[in-house]
Amino acid sequence: MGPTAVKMFGLILLASAGAAGTAAQGLQSDNVSQRQQGMKAMAAAAKTINAMFKGSSAYDAKAFKAAAETIGSHSGEGMSSLFSGSVTAPGSKASASIEAEREQFNKLAADLGGYATALSAAADRNPDALSPQMRMQGGDTMMGGPLARKPQAARDVASMPAEHAFHLMLQTCTSCHAKFRTKNE
Ligand code: HEC
Repeated sequence: MGPTAVKMFGLILLASAGAAGTAAQGLQSDNVSQRQQGMKAMAAAAKTINAMFKGSSAYDAKAFKAAAETIGSHSGEGMSSLFSGSVTAPGSKASASIEAEREQFNKLAADLGGYATALSAAADRNPDALSPQMRMQGGDTMMGGPLARKPQAARDVASMPAEHAFHLMLQTCTSCHAKFRTKNE
């Protein structure tokens, strides 16, 4: 994974480290604790997939798929529904701007689900080894390259290398946090 993706991933892990104190306060509603649990589960799953791409864990198609499915199960409409109604709450870092810009929030949640589906399918196609087809190709640059724009159709996501879909997935986490998660409670 390139340096930019590594940096983004570090930020995601930092977010989970900073969250410990808020749970202890026991102030959050069920929705808030559910969405924070879901986010933490996604961070752990992304870490599992990242380790396989980096080669620090052996590729295991079942574990790769399970991690993709974990992310899928916490994204899309499931994620959106946990942020419905009044979004801000004690112990939550959810920004009130989610209420004003729901369409964009829901789109990011749905995009996340699309990448998760693509990664799950890639594990099915590659039961034995992390094949060269799963790797980023020369032209798959993250920023500024021809593929830098978000793919429009689900088909594009399904046909790109899994590693590229994974990078775009991490970018989706980061984009949503930048816009819709506050730094302080
Ligand atoms: C559509 C928006 C959106 C997407 C996409 C998203 N997040 Fe989040 N994330 C949030 C918001 C909002 C919060 C703050 C939730 C709260 O405190 O109520 C959050 C919080 C978190 C936290 C802190 C949880 C805690 O214990 O307080 C982690 C870790 C996290 N996200 C990881 C991820 C990862 C990993 C991904 C991608 C696989 C991701 N998120 C994708 C919006 C998003």
